[in-house]
Amino acid sequence: MDVETQISAVRLLGTARDPVVSLIDQRLLPSRTVWLATSDGEVVARAITDMVVRGAPAIGITAAYGLVVAMAGIHWPPESTASDDEGERFQAWHRRFAQTRPTAVNLFWALDRMAACYGRVDGGPEAKLAALRSEAIAIHDEDRAYCASMAHHGAALLPETGGILTHCNTGALATGGVGTALGVFRAALQAGKQLHLFADETRPFLQGARLTAWECVQDGLPATLICDNMAASLMREGKIAAAIVGSDRIARNGDVCNKIGTYNVAVLCKHHGIPFYVAAPTSTVDLSCPDGSAIPIEQRSPREVTHVGGWAPEELLASLAVAPESVKALNPAFDVTPAALVTAIVTELGVARLPYADDLIAMVAAAEARRQR
Ligand code: MRU
Repeated sequence: MDVETQISAVRLLGTARDPVVSLIDQRLLPSRTVWLATSDGEVVARAITDMVVRGAPAIGITAAYGLVVAMAGIHWPPESTASDDEGERFQAWHRRFAQTRPTAVNLFWALDRMAACYGRVDGGPEAKLAALRSEAIAIHDEDRAYCASMAHHGAALLPETGGILTHCNTGALATGGVGTALGVFRAALQAGKQLHLFADETRPFLQGARLTAWECVQDGLPATLICDNMAASLMREGKIAAAIVGSDRIARNGDVCNKIGTYNVAVLCKHHGIPFYVAAPTSTVDLSCPDGSAIPIEQRSPREVTHVGGWAPEELLASLAVAPESVKALNPAFDVTPAALVTAIVTELGVARLPYADDLIAMVAAAEARRQR
């Protein structure tokens, strides 16, 4: 069993002067594997909002590459913010990418790194573009390495045998490497553990059914898809030995924001005495949020709830209504799991435990120090 995978969500192609961002269109999986290739920063920004690409680290990497293609200037200007000033152009694109999705802090972390890089370069547009390209590639490479380290640290936490419950998609489609929680599962299998994944379908966007199940089939990982409302019964039957999920933003106190429905899983784990683990790189930790109440929760279109396939472009996938046209529907894309329900948080630097603040502060500082070296 190999922890590696050939699956990737985002690539930077083309040349230094004519870069191209290539994204697998995750709205169309598993029925079609279509790559969107573009040199247009605005198309990249819309791809993040529309969830062509999704998953916290993958969003950050894509935004960094998006800034590279945008600054290559091929499709300047976005909307009506035309300016001849290179620095103003950069700021405008930076603002544009910061508007794409609100919850995953990896997006803002990557954009801040790109801004710091831009500010450091003492040279003309060519030098700045080259530096931005190198920084975006470094962000991608680092995430690949973070995934590998998390997989290593997390695998040791999982039991030798049994069922592992996961929620959403946390694999190669969501990151720059083998994944966060799914990477941990892969590494545990590679270490010889006899585990079986139970993947929540993850209503309404169905990341579990469409994406996690697809990754498992592609890479031959032992997995069974379940509806979200089946987890409690499986736990009572003793079929779940541990749960592991990713995160879009972790507050300083260890409150974990992740895909809507994650909190349900944590509560169920608590009731059944099952460990509930979170795997996320330090780029997902937001020390400026004292607790989960400070994390902005994205509200998406009710159409994703009222229609099966309500996220797909009309012309590509006919939507099927599962609710009356005029009904009101809520669609918060994320929820917050209180730190007290989290057994441990695995980052690329090791395992954090309750009370989380000290470990998280030390890990973020150590990650920053490594990057400065
Ligand atoms: O709305 P999405 O699909 O971008 O949400 C993704 C998740 O919630 C993942 O669990 C999270 O990004 C962590 S895994 C990389």
